Amino acid sequence: MPKLTVVTREGDETTVDGEAGLSVMEVIRDSGFDELLALCGGCCSCATCHVHVDAAFLGILPEMSDDENDLLDSSDNRDETSRLSCQIPFSDALDGLRVTIAPED
Ligand code: FES
Repeated sequence: MPKLTVVTREGDETTVDGEAGLSVMEVIRDSGFDELLALCGGCCSCATCHVHVDAAFLGILPEMSDDENDLLDSSDNRDETSRLSCQIPFSDALDGLRVTIAPED
């Protein structure tokens, strides 16, 4: 199973097994991180699944849709590493991915 490392807002870092085929948001949520609210359940309409992705992985992630881009614009904490975790399908290709849960807006 591919591994995902999650850094919480407090800076605690945990590596979990993630099921390929789930979204990164689902892997984080199913691993018990309740600070990732993911209020819309993954339909790209809330931006509460915002994470910062380690720069090494940015280039291999699927391209951002216009909807994701617009939603991220609503966040004061957006930077060049920002993604909505519900829009990233987890897979073996992303084994070792490290994401940091973005501060709450
Ligand atoms: S869970 Fe709502 S946009 Fe990702």
